[in-house]
Formats: sequence, C-alpha cells, structure tokens
Amino acid sequence: MTEVVIVDDPTAGAELVAGAVAALVASRPAPVLGLATGGSPRPVYDRLAGLCSTGELSLARCQAFLLDEYVGLSRSHPASYRQVIEREVVVRTDLPAERVLGPDVWVAESDLPAACRRYEERICEAGGVDLQLLGVGTDGHIGFNEPGSSLGSRTRLKTLTARTRADNARFFDGDAGAVPLHVVTQGIGTILEARHLVLLAWGEAKADVIGRLVEGPVTASVPASAVQLHPHVTVVVDSPAASKLQRAEYYRETWAAKPDWQGI
Ligand code: F6R
Repeated sequence: MTEVVIVDDPTAGAELVAGAVAALVASRPAPVLGLATGGSPRPVYDRLAGLCSTGELSLARCQAFLLDEYVGLSRSHPASYRQVIEREVVVRTDLPAERVLGPDVWVAESDLPAACRRYEERICEAGGVDLQLLGVGTDGHIGFNEPGSSLGSRTRLKTLTARTRADNARFFDGDAGAVPLHVVTQGIGTILEARHLVLLAWGEAKADVIGRLVEGPVTASVPASAVQLHPHVTVVVDSPAASKLQRAEYYRETWAAKPDWQGI
C-alpha cells in the first residue's frame, strides 16, 4: 500500500521527513538524497537547515541529485533549480556544494541526449538515490514528467504544459511566458529506482491530484500515480491536501497504530 501520512501542517510534515533524513544519515556512510524544488519541499529544507545549525544533523557525508532543471536559463539565473537548491539547502547546511549534481543543461542542444545519459550514469555510480523528495504538479506531473509521459522513461528533454508554466509563473514575477518551455527531468523509470520515495503536498489546490495519484488507477495520464508501483513510498500531506481521499480515516488509523521504530 502507498503509505499516506496526514499531518497537522507542513511544519509537522517537515519534521517527520527531516527525521527520516536523519535516520538515513545515521544508517549509511554515504547517503544519497534526491532533491526536488518548488514550494512543497521548502519546509523540509527549513527543518534540515535548523537541525544542521544546532549541530543535531550533518549532511557532510551526503551526495545529492536534482530531479530536474529548466533549459534555457543561465546557470546563475535565480530560478534555475541549481540556484534554488544552492540557496535553500547548500548555503544553509553543510551539504558539500560539489556533491550536488543536476542535469547538465548548459551544453549545446545537440549534446543534451548525451548529457542526460551521463546524468543517469552519475546516479548509478553513486549507488542510486536512497531518499527521493517529490512534489506533485496540479496536472499530476512528478519531476517534470507531464501527463502522457512513459512510466518507464529515463532522464530526457520534456516540454512543459501550459498549466505547469502558469503554476510556476510565481517564480518568474507572475509571468508564465518567462517560464521556460523546455526542461530536462529524471524519467519516471529513473525516479522509481530510488529506494524510498517521499511525496509532499500541502493545501487544497493539491487535493484533487492527491486523490487521483493515491487512489486512482496507475496511468500515464497522472504520472505521479506511478508511485503506486514502488515498494516504499510515503505520501505526506496536510488535511486540505488529503480532503479528497476516500480512505483518509483508514490512513489516519494506520499511522496512529504504526510502531514508532518503523519510521516512514
Ligand atoms: C520540482 C519538480 C516539480 C514540482 C511540482 C510541484 O523539482 O520536479 O515536479 O515538485 O511542480 O511544485 P510545487 O511544490 O511548487 O507545488
């Protein structure tokens, strides 16, 4: 079953997920984190930063891989995912900047397919991702695998839907036209190879997609529904985001009855 944890608010969710990161760090010599961008993981990054600042956690032994990157922005553009992770994670924790890798989109266009293949190789060389943070788009995308993406896809170039560009306009001064049309994203097949998937969603705007991805059929029309195929997936949501789940009461009961030592 896809584990669903309904938390009081994003801060409580962040504490839970940061606890899972801390447990991972304690259990592996070279933990590999998969980092998403956007609004959903921010509370987790805030919590990780807090734990690092008090010395309760160190990410110094970690390596990290980004889920995706816009194509067409300069490396230093504040909305490029490399810069977002630099600001939100790297400068606020002790995660070594040189051990954070993202798809190399700053090559000649014709070299992008080779750069995508190299990115997959780098993930493999690191031993694969231990814990992958994910958000979900209102159209059902994970990473930037838009509806219709192959469930077996690998890292590649994708075109964003108009809806995703409108959703992400908030990171571009409200101008959807300034949101790049193209991205390089880990494929759904790539994402499913991470050992633990943690998908985060807050607020009522995500209620519909959370209902479809957790309780609807597995379908390329809702790429995030592919997480149902994964043996270890945790969906962490607040009550508004959980409001369209048919089995919400059961998820609450299951979580309340879960032994603490199991974690997520
Ligand atoms: C970001 C990413 C996207 C976002 C999704 C939700 O790296 O891959 O799938 O997770 O667009 O974005 P937010 O969290 O801003 O609602």
